[in-house]
Amino acid sequence: MLVLVLILVACQSAPQQHKPPPPSLIPLPASVDLSPGYFTLHQGAALNIRSGNPAALGVARYFADLLARTRDIHLDVRPFDAAENDDGIIFVLDPQFLVRDDSSDEGYELTVASHGIRLIARTPHGLFNGSVTLWQWLTQDTAHKVSFDVPCVHIEDHPRFAWRGLMLDSARRYQSPEFIKQLLDEMARHKLDVFHWHLTDDQGWRIEIKQYPKLTDIGAWRIPASVYGAPSRYGGFYTQEQIRDIVRFAAERYITIVPEIEMPGHAQAAIAAYPELGVTGVRPPVSPDWGVHTYLYNVDDSTFSFLENVLTEVMDLFPGNYVHIGGDEAAKDQWQASAHIQQRMRELGVADETALQSWFIARIERFLDDHGRKLIGWDEILQGGLPPRATVMSWQGTKGGIEAARQGHDVVMAPSPLMYFDHVQSQRHDEPPGRPDVVSLDDVYAYEPTPQELDSTQARHVLGAQANLWSEYMDTTQRVEHAAFPRADALAEVLWSPPSRRNWAGFLSRLPAQLDRYRALGIDFADSAFAADITAKAGRQARGAEVEISNQTHFGDIHYSLDRTPPSAASAAYRAPVSLALPAWISAVAFAQGRALAAPEARVLDAGSLARLNSDALLPCKPGLGLPLRLPGPVRGGGEAVYRVDIFDPCWIYPHADLDNMRRLEVIAAALPYNFQLWKDADKVVLRPGAAPAGELQVRKDTCDGDVLDTIALPAATTRQDTAQLQATLPHGGGVHDLCLFFTRARIDPMWAIDTVQLLP
Ligand code: ACM
Repeated sequence: MLVLVLILVACQSAPQQHKPPPPSLIPLPASVDLSPGYFTLHQGAALNIRSGNPAALGVARYFADLLARTRDIHLDVRPFDAAENDDGIIFVLDPQFLVRDDSSDEGYELTVASHGIRLIARTPHGLFNGSVTLWQWLTQDTAHKVSFDVPCVHIEDHPRFAWRGLMLDSARRYQSPEFIKQLLDEMARHKLDVFHWHLTDDQGWRIEIKQYPKLTDIGAWRIPASVYGAPSRYGGFYTQEQIRDIVRFAAERYITIVPEIEMPGHAQAAIAAYPELGVTGVRPPVSPDWGVHTYLYNVDDSTFSFLENVLTEVMDLFPGNYVHIGGDEAAKDQWQASAHIQQRMRELGVADETALQSWFIARIERFLDDHGRKLIGWDEILQGGLPPRATVMSWQGTKGGIEAARQGHDVVMAPSPLMYFDHVQSQRHDEPPGRPDVVSLDDVYAYEPTPQELDSTQARHVLGAQANLWSEYMDTTQRVEHAAFPRADALAEVLWSPPSRRNWAGFLSRLPAQLDRYRALGIDFADSAFAADITAKAGRQARGAEVEISNQTHFGDIHYSLDRTPPSAASAAYRAPVSLALPAWISAVAFAQGRALAAPEARVLDAGSLARLNSDALLPCKPGLGLPLRLPGPVRGGGEAVYRVDIFDPCWIYPHADLDNMRRLEVIAAALPYNFQLWKDADKVVLRPGAAPAGELQVRKDTCDGDVLDTIALPAATTRQDTAQLQATLPHGGGVHDLCLFFTRARIDPMWAIDTVQLLP
């Protein structure tokens, strides 16, 4: 019906001299052709929709609202304009339109010419993607102006993968519906289109199921682990009304929500609500612990009726094709120990517990299949054989994904650790708690979702990838955002852009404007990749220090100040290590494109600070072994510190202590709750016997079997959430030695951990 004039009109030269800004588009489109000239966008300009489809109007309204919020430019959205005049801004939805090389239905073409801006796509999803690109094109700086010149460009774009995902764990921590929407909004601005919502686990059941109210009356609430006094109940859940609202909100952003209902393991909260679903008949608490729990569903028909009734309500709430059924880390101990389960296995003719899990998942798959849905599960569903149509989410590295694709099954790649955004993103001590092996921005950017081991036919089964936001240590939404952004930018580019277009330096140069967008939208992104890392080495006699400054990405120019004023781009430029007389104060920031890339980093340098190491700067006693975590714990006088500790063997090395000049050692430590379920790793936990009832700090020379230099009894950790200040005496003389520090303890809980170690003269 509509006559579409699809001519790319060359831009005319703009009257003024302009230098084009670096195009800050993330993810980078398949092709971007800049041309000279500008379109001048005025306040109140018309945005015409050419389509009879209300979805196109929805896209236009979303776009106009975003532009108004971030640039104060208010467009006049004109529905269903039939005019053939191509001037101004036009969004065209044309079912016949084809984007070059696009085999998805998400592509679009965007043209900025001197007389107007035209966005065209075959589907509303494509139109939405293009509107996000246009929004980024219009927000390359943060200036709010009544009109501005938009550089001419022609963009043809489509995604590489269909599954561009983020997973949020709302079971370990409950986040508000408002926050879920904010995250969905941010996903949409990254062209991420699958939100995997981890809604049930041992620590909480978060989705209202009308037929089983105790799932949320009981299962949504836990008493957190604590050393000091009784903590208050923690929890929350999403009502069906809230979920419908969130699903609608996601759909308006072309995001599909994949709900996850865990089975047969990670089921402790459900069994706490309905013990008859479990194997032992015992009602466990909703777990306050992290790790691998042993509560499994039983395999009675009544339990399958429960699961099917739950899934029926879930399918009613979530219209997407996929339902995630977990399947991971189902420790089989209870099934092995139960005569009833063993009898049932004989009746079913299944050989072992692994085969029983496979039978369990296949039964659920048949149910989902009968209801027109597809099952996806973590890669343990491969054990004992995959059900015929299942999709596998590869998390234990890539081998599950490779195996499934070779068997002709679709796969989504989410390999640990690269796609596990609960890992910290730098070595900095100001990173929030989490897993300490660094997954940096650069690591994520370098990730290739299609395993090399697959041939081209098998590779077509790779639907895409996702990053997982496990929330054990993301107890605030700021921490979720810190973990997600800007690593989600790297992820988005990996999943959207053609591999030939990927370029790390180019990506970095597009980030400063993106960070400004985060600031404008109030997103608590991490500046870990750019923050100045200041390292200082004491000079002779500790009268001076040599200071080196860098940042993780080596991006930007570092400037520093020494006079207790915040550094600006006019401050001294850092080029080589700086020698400073002590005491000194130094602060540094990296700048690029006229913007500060991070918050200023400041350090006080004096004899005391140079001889004080925090737990990230101390060394592990067993490097490469153990289970290191960075745990939250108290700070003296209130607040929170991060304690890096090997939870198998809490033990630290202070390297190269100068025993000629240092006579005392002061340790700040805290008792932390030992809330870890270690399953088969439980026997790796080391308890070191000591004399004092509440345990003691031991300081040993050179190695952890070396001479005991001092032993300090610990206070009983019972009443107040606080830290202990422990003073040890060092022997005089004898040169430079490593010191090994550990706590003796008779019981596993609580676990004492070191915050800082200070050497004193
Ligand atoms: C998982 O991390 N257990 C999927």
